[in-house]
Amino acid sequence: MGDTKQLAQTYTVVNNTQYDAGLFLLKRLELEPGMRVLDVGCGPGNITAYLADLVGECGDVVGIDPSEERIALAQETIQGKKNLVFHVGCAEDLAQFPSASFDVLYCNSTLHWVADQPRALREFGRVLKPGGRLGVSGQSGDFVAAHQRIKDEVLAREPYRNYDHDIAGEPHFLKQQEMGTLLDAAGFGGRTFTINKIFKSTKDGAEMVDWLASSSSGKTYGGVPVDMRPQVREEMIVEWDKMTTKDGLTMELDLLVTVATKSQGYFD
Ligand SMILES: C[S@@+](CC[C@H](N)C(=O)[O-])C[C@H]1O[C@@H](n2cnc3c(N)ncnc32)[C@H](O)[C@@H]1O
Repeated sequence: MGDTKQLAQTYTVVNNTQYDAGLFLLKRLELEPGMRVLDVGCGPGNITAYLADLVGECGDVVGIDPSEERIALAQETIQGKKNLVFHVGCAEDLAQFPSASFDVLYCNSTLHWVADQPRALREFGRVLKPGGRLGVSGQSGDFVAAHQRIKDEVLAREPYRNYDHDIAGEPHFLKQQEMGTLLDAAGFGGRTFTINKIFKSTKDGAEMVDWLASSSSGKTYGGVPVDMRPQVREEMIVEWDKMTTKDGLTMELDLLVTVATKSQGYFD
């Protein structure tokens, strides 16, 4: 259960919101030519390709993602860059990379989907060189967005309530304080936090639900079977359309943007 080729393909068409959030994060990371960068949760790789342009031919970029569908799409569509590779892999297990091997670790719109966030942060700290920089952007846990309320409300109805929604992998949006604790435990010293307030606009509820579904690799529908998803989608659209005006639909989101520096001399 989870991602599908169709959701992966839709995501590349609709990820302009995540792309803009990714650029906001990138500005704070000050990438330079020659750097080695790891993009964790790279999805279809369109931002990863931009990272490769920034570090140039004397640098290199690796994109990893657990979704075989998204990595296949990245490998298929992004070609001709000698300094960029994509692999299937997840944040919690970076064993394929040696310690202290990256200058920058970039993680955009992804960490909330990672099941074991403390382990992922320790892996981020391990693979970064001392003085290397970590950049993470994702919805802040200090803010409750409309998509969470609507998802909880619809999935609590019959018959959806009878399925195990945790099994699909519920997102965990980190509060700033939690992020600080994880960074301390993973060997990061200096850090800055910024709130990036964004507005996701769509023409109607259907477009909003489809954006949420492709962004979450289908997890918007919780643990309901794939063939029941169209039914859940319709019920979610009804809720979103209650908020839709003649100008369309807008959802407010607070993103927590973290830039942290790996302490000198800390090795796992
Ligand atoms: C909303 S997409 C973000 C993709 C890309 N970073 C962007 O900004 O467009 C979230 C990505 O997180 C990936 N993901 C989910 N669980 C993960 C994990 N444990 N480790 C790494 N990536 C994960 C998903 O497969 C998906 O591609």
